[in-house]
Amino acid sequence: MAYKRYHLPEGFILGAAASAWQTEGWSGKKDYQDSFMDLWYKSNPELWHNGYGPTIATNFYNRYHEDVKLMKEIGINAYRTSIDWSRFIKDYETAEVDEDAAKYYSDLIDDLIKNGVEPMICLEHYELPAALFQKYGGWGSKHVIELYVKYAEQVFKLYGDRVKYFFTFNEPIVIQTRSFLDSIRYPFFQDTKMAMQWSYNKILASAKAIEAYKRGNYNKDGKIGIILNIEVTYPRSSAQHDIAAAKIYDLFFNRIFLDPCVKGVLPDELLKILNYHHCCFEFTEEELDTIKNNTVQILGLNLYAPARVKARDSAWNPSTPFHPSYYYEKFELPGRKMNLSRGWEIYPRIMYDMAMRIKNEYGNIEWLVTENGMGVENEGNFKNEDGVIQDDYRIEFISEHLRWLLKAIEEGSNCKGYMLWAFTDNVSPQNAFKNRYGLVEIDLDYNRNRRIKKSGYWYKEVLKNRYFDY
Ligand code: BG6
Repeated sequence: MAYKRYHLPEGFILGAAASAWQTEGWSGKKDYQDSFMDLWYKSNPELWHNGYGPTIATNFYNRYHEDVKLMKEIGINAYRTSIDWSRFIKDYETAEVDEDAAKYYSDLIDDLIKNGVEPMICLEHYELPAALFQKYGGWGSKHVIELYVKYAEQVFKLYGDRVKYFFTFNEPIVIQTRSFLDSIRYPFFQDTKMAMQWSYNKILASAKAIEAYKRGNYNKDGKIGIILNIEVTYPRSSAQHDIAAAKIYDLFFNRIFLDPCVKGVLPDELLKILNYHHCCFEFTEEELDTIKNNTVQILGLNLYAPARVKARDSAWNPSTPFHPSYYYEKFELPGRKMNLSRGWEIYPRIMYDMAMRIKNEYGNIEWLVTENGMGVENEGNFKNEDGVIQDDYRIEFISEHLRWLLKAIEEGSNCKGYMLWAFTDNVSPQNAFKNRYGLVEIDLDYNRNRRIKKSGYWYKEVLKNRYFDY
């Protein structure tokens, strides 16, 4: 097979991502410092694969020095993680900081910088304090937005001098979709209006945190944005009804955040549909102004799989509460390459299509791929005689996705980097440690020891050479 050489553009950031709750473990957390994810795990541990949850996770809290050493060895340019709000703040009302937690994050940031790894910090990767969910209903409450902004300001004050990339939320739509629309995750109830209110409140919270960041002038090179999980949507056919269905899917799952966060405006079409179905969120004109005046300075996109959408073939059951699928059905394209462990189609062209859309429709804002990756089950079966996981499928996956991204950059996309999910294997919602995503294996049989996989060595070469052959 003839290979082609793909060069990374000058200054392109090649890194890896993770989050606090999926790696840290509960070490150092006080009894009351549960996050929403901790609460969920405590409520239904049986739903998590083999019972693994955030309890120990990868024990990053105690072992991050080891991981940073591995980051240095592989040579990654940046590491994205989150601060666990529930751990970092001692008193959620006054935003008094927990000194132990503040020191831990400060040391981690220093360690990354000392080892040539740019820290990228997200303020909420589902680590809403459980107490705020229980007392105020979480993101449904405008008071929680105020508490979040106070928390964000503490983070900016303490780390804003050293951290140049902040993100207000990771995938802010996910909890609503899974918990309140589809009702397949804790707390398992269906409430479309509540889902919409949570989304809107997070949009507002993000804008307010951006406003606070700008006000503080923490770092002349600093930038703040949001991380959205985009489902690049393709209609089944070019027939009007399929195109209309795909547009609605895109509206409810992509534009709902993209438009206000990047352009500063909520899509009119969305408001019309929500009003028609009596589930529009509450908002004020003043809030809309805040959203308008505080759009993101950088955008993070998590890109995993396409959404294939068609007009409904089956009738909507009128006795069910409104759900956006009133307007569409999803389907699988036969014959496509699938990531079977996750049930996701592998379609690397999403990188190009989304990159060009950002260029053409969103003012070519500076952006990063903040997640892309391949979760695979039973990787232990692919070890060579030295015990190194031979994950050629991951190398192929990354190469194909990067290739499409680089093509878009050549054509003018303002994408500045690619962060693989994930640096190490980690715990993820319900999959727990089932689907492994890391460049580095976490060995559950051996005390969560770390070992670089073949893909990690490959990534190291790419980082050293600044090109790869594929
Ligand atoms: C992203 C999330 O959607 O996907 C991560 O930001 C998550 O938190 C990752 O772990 C992979 O998803 P999963 O469910 O396959 O582990």
